[in-house]
Amino acid sequence: MKNVYIETLGCQMNKSDSERIAGILSHFGYIETNNEKNADLLIINTCSIRQLSADKAYSQLGVWGKRKKTNPEIKIAICGCVAQQDKEKIKKRAPYIDLIFGTHNIYELPELIKRVENGEKVCSITNKPYIADQNNFKIIRKPSVNAWIPIIEGCNNFCTYCVVPFTRGRERSRNPEEILKEAQNIIKEGFKEITLLGQNVDSYGKDLNDNNITLANLLRKMNSLEGDFRIRFVTSYPSDITDDLIDAVGECEKVCKYFHIPMQSGNSRILKEMNRHYTKEQYYEIVSKIRSRFPDVAITSDFIAGFPGETEEEFQDTLNAIEELKLDYSNTAAYSPREFTKAGKMIDKFLPEEVKYERLERLNEKNREMCLKSNEKFINKKMRVLVENKTEKNGKITLNSRADNNKIVHFESDKINIGDFAYVKVTKAQTWCLYGEPV
Ligand code: SAH
Ligand code: SF4
Ligand code: F3S
Repeated sequence: MKNVYIETLGCQMNKSDSERIAGILSHFGYIETNNEKNADLLIINTCSIRQLSADKAYSQLGVWGKRKKTNPEIKIAICGCVAQQDKEKIKKRAPYIDLIFGTHNIYELPELIKRVENGEKVCSITNKPYIADQNNFKIIRKPSVNAWIPIIEGCNNFCTYCVVPFTRGRERSRNPEEILKEAQNIIKEGFKEITLLGQNVDSYGKDLNDNNITLANLLRKMNSLEGDFRIRFVTSYPSDITDDLIDAVGECEKVCKYFHIPMQSGNSRILKEMNRHYTKEQYYEIVSKIRSRFPDVAITSDFIAGFPGETEEEFQDTLNAIEELKLDYSNTAAYSPREFTKAGKMIDKFLPEEVKYERLERLNEKNREMCLKSNEKFINKKMRVLVENKTEKNGKITLNSRADNNKIVHFESDKINIGDFAYVKVTKAQTWCLYGEPV
């Protein structure tokens, strides 16, 4: 038996990939450890969405490289989005690396790992036009009430700032039977929430040449599976949210009334420069359609501050959008130039760092303000929640839960347990969470 330690950076897709990597390696005698000091094999699953994320990968490799000097038996591997993109750079900066594998090459691990064990330095980065069948191997999921299922990988949109189409390739959907089989296993194992994952989850099925394979129909099929669980899906691309998808969310009682729909900018000129396929007005329309259908829905978004050439007025449109749309929460980031991307080449339009970060600060301030307002709407309302974990302080147990609309709700109870669904009346709202009591 050998120990493998996996450090995972980046999005939920990477976290899900790491669970699959741990599962595959378990067939070859590797047990996952939380203690990197015990590991025979160290893996870093990397993210390159912003420079900062990519830098983290290299600094971790540096630390592990030093460890390998005193203990040359240790094997070091890198995978994920930086690996897919940067193999030459990695070989140069970390020549001690034993294994580099790309986002498309996870299912080659059985062969790759054998070669590494035989002392070979291995690198496998290819683009595959399909997603490998994922049900042949174990998946070692992290202890949680939630389980992830990737349903579509890759991206065809080529937003001008974004590296994902280069690190994840073109959109590839898994077939619905395989997804449903995975979902059934998850429910049998006792998970209470399933999150369907995709860089553009609402593009699901477009590449499969069957008009009946859509996210809406997949939700309907998942909803009809037996069991006490709920369903989420992320991330939605605004203009790919169809009326049929909204209908399906309405029809399916297990599907959470929650949408994560990144807007990126509240200004139509910037959206066009970003190559987003919608205008500010179209985004507003989608939000209003969803809100009028589901009164207690939460809609969350992502925004980038300081895209190349963004003027102060254009940035103001973003602040206005967050306010006018009453967005329930937004992820925010300062624009970070990425290699290969179109915007990354607009060097003469780059804004000074201090302008980007000052805008980011105002974006965050607006986000905090709107989150609090959004949370205050729920005071005195009854919400269904799923308990995720508990904390004990001074003999008092607090249950930490998430409502169907993804709001975090804390409450006290000694009768309700982790993994239980419960109804809670909200008594207090703060910026990032709600407090309530069981009803
Ligand atoms: N597919 C999703 C987003 C995936 S990337 C969508 O289309 O909305 C997650 C988030 O990272 C993006 O929504 C964007 O806000 C941010 N992001 C991507 N590239 C970035 C960059 N170069 N600089 C700053 N933020 C970036
Ligand atoms: Fe990146 Fe745009 Fe694709 Fe989202 S839709 S992953 S932001 S290129
Ligand atoms: Fe990062 Fe790759 Fe996800 S770049 S955000 S880990 S798809």
